Amino acid sequence: MIEHQPEPRWTAVEEYLSGLVGHAVEAALEAGMPPIEVAPNAGKLLKLLVQLSGARRVLEIGTLAGFSTLWMAQGLPDGGRITTCEYVPRHAEVARSNLDRAGLGHLVEIRVGPALDTLPALEGEDGGPFDFVFIDADKENNARYLDWAIRLGRPGTTVVMDNVVWEGAVLDPGRDAVNAPGIVAALQMMGTDPRLDATVIQTVGSKGWDGFALALVR
Ligand code: SAH
Ligand code: DHB
Ligand code: MG
Repeated sequence: MIEHQPEPRWTAVEEYLSGLVGHAVEAALEAGMPPIEVAPNAGKLLKLLVQLSGARRVLEIGTLAGFSTLWMAQGLPDGGRITTCEYVPRHAEVARSNLDRAGLGHLVEIRVGPALDTLPALEGEDGGPFDFVFIDADKENNARYLDWAIRLGRPGTTVVMDNVVWEGAVLDPGRDAVNAPGIVAALQMMGTDPRLDATVIQTVGSKGWDGFALALVR
């Protein structure tokens, strides 16, 4: 974890923008769950990116309570589906309940366990490659997840990775010896791996100073 220092105006502007573009999704965070879901305006971006990419098959790594899952599910075409990986069984239960209550549960399969253990089974499954991958779990494994996104994707697959600026810790990895090196490793891969074409955008808002990477599998 890293300490967030949101400037009050960043959060006020985010609330204003989310009020303009964010449909309130019927969902709840339960006590004991960390408030680290995507902000509404960022969730809306995920929905639009799913639509812009024409994705039918979406992979998410890091479900939490299913907020980002709900946003992406709203961007699916008929017949589209999401597979989402979550380590903590309680998070998966809350997500299941949120998704079902929103009437979108039938579109989502939750794989419970450490993602590095559950991802390999997806390789041999029917349904074809994933068209869109959202990486938002333990940052230590970001580069490994990026490699899995390429393996489980195809040329043209869209990859989004959350939390890639981490309050600037990417330039000062000593500030977070657990997460920052994993984020830096993934960013270097974004810039150098010949299988990817990528960019990185910084953001400010309720979640402090952060950002996301957007990549296209070549
Ligand atoms: N995408 C969610 C937020 C995810 S928070 C949203 O925006 O709504 C990160 C989640 O990753 C947490 O629920 C955490 O339990 C999960 N996680 C952590 N390590 C993991 C692992 N090794 N495999 C799968 N999920 C993991
Ligand atoms: C935090 C934020 C995130 O978006 C996430 O995926 C994990 C952790 C955080 O603020 O600690
Ligand atoms: Mg995140």
